[in-house]
Amino acid sequence: MHRRLIAPGALAASLVLLAIPASAADFLPGAPGAGDPYYPDAGNGGYDVSHYDLRLKYQPKTDLLEGTATIQATATQDLSRFNLDFGLKVSEVRVNGKKAAFARSGEQELEVTPKTGLPKGSSLSVVVRYAGKPSEVKIHGFTAWQRTPDGGVAAQEPESSAWWFPGNDHPRDKATYDVSVSVPDGTQAISNGVLQSQSSKLGWTRFNWRSNKPQATYLATLAVGKFDITTDKTENGLPVLNAYSKDLGDNAGAARASIERTTEVAEWLEEVFGKYPFNALGGYVPNVPASYALETQTRPFYGPKAFANGSNVSIVVHELAHQWYGDSVSVDGWKDIWVNEGFARYSQWLWSEKEGEGTAQELADYVYANNAADSPFWQVKPGDPGPDNQFHIAVYDRGALALQALRNEIGDKAFFRILKGWPKERAYGNATVRDFVTYAEKVSGKPLSALFDTWLYQTGKPGAPAARDAGV
Ligand code: ARG
Ligand code: ZN
Repeated sequence: MHRRLIAPGALAASLVLLAIPASAADFLPGAPGAGDPYYPDAGNGGYDVSHYDLRLKYQPKTDLLEGTATIQATATQDLSRFNLDFGLKVSEVRVNGKKAAFARSGEQELEVTPKTGLPKGSSLSVVVRYAGKPSEVKIHGFTAWQRTPDGGVAAQEPESSAWWFPGNDHPRDKATYDVSVSVPDGTQAISNGVLQSQSSKLGWTRFNWRSNKPQATYLATLAVGKFDITTDKTENGLPVLNAYSKDLGDNAGAARASIERTTEVAEWLEEVFGKYPFNALGGYVPNVPASYALETQTRPFYGPKAFANGSNVSIVVHELAHQWYGDSVSVDGWKDIWVNEGFARYSQWLWSEKEGEGTAQELADYVYANNAADSPFWQVKPGDPGPDNQFHIAVYDRGALALQALRNEIGDKAFFRILKGWPKERAYGNATVRDFVTYAEKVSGKPLSALFDTWLYQTGKPGAPAARDAGV
């Protein structure tokens, strides 16, 4: 039982209200969105999740996903009601053990009304039972769950969690995860982190995954299907697990030739970015008709077509770079996407430089020369591209140009100190583009807002490419 303390001066007034508990009047619903202007209904207000425990069962034949999510959270305001982002059908919700009322509001919002208000600072344990076919869930006309001949996959940005578990779907609210998924024998369930155990009974195999560092909802992944799995340990003892759909056709060899180099790439990235921030390494390739990849935490998703031209270690470099830039240090809002993509692309340029396939400067010059002044490339602002252009090539390539310009302005010593210092300074947190600019100014001791203005915020092709050799 929780009651508000009443200031002595308010005692007389409160006597009048004795019939209504003071709490009920003051407790308000949590906001239905996290307040991100790009995606107003993404995430929710009023609580902060610390842990998701998902206990699920998936039948590939019917696409039926059923199970229970148990969410540990803390109320961040006096809460009369709160939302979860979720698209599947819910049969029961309990809050701190007691049945709670729930209602759907729109395609994506589940409104939960507990029996009694939840005081600010109190713990919430929320149990949600659900079942449904994720491929049939449409949010804004879109289905993030990709069904495959032998299973299905959740791996999309900026949103994919609402198709398979209820949550606070915004990168500002990160949490740890236990994902336990039961699938028919002979089928595997792949998720983030460490495979704690797997066991089989009554024709079903259960896979228990643990991701023990803060993880954004869009970086949680689930893939069910028939996979070939390779396992290993790094020299530091981190478990490595890669999974390849048995149905990759001609791309199978190139996919392995790329992803089996994960340990090598991560070792090299540690030299550039500092210690790897998570408890496991790997990658997986399901049999979806995709060429994109996604930096799902500890275990990136790779579309098979990324390997259509042979090995593609560069894409592995990109997704692993995101483990530092994107996953450990995450966007504060989706407008800050450059703090992910600019650095992931730049790390590919550094890899190219190391491999003797063109220096970062040469690649910057190439990008500058090959995008004409009237191209949309110079109309998109990487520092605030808008939701429709969040993954525009300009965010990546012009975003990397910004980093080459920075490198030339402040010299290699300060530049690489920043690349390594930032993931440490901001580990497991969130950051804006402005936060990065401030940090770079602090470390380099140079004013940099004009430089970043040119490369991240102006429209139109800047007059000169990233200046060379200005610093060193
Ligand atoms: N962060 C991902 C990458 O650059 C982008 C994913 C874009 N999503 C998509 N469906 N294409 O690695
Ligand atoms: Zn990326």
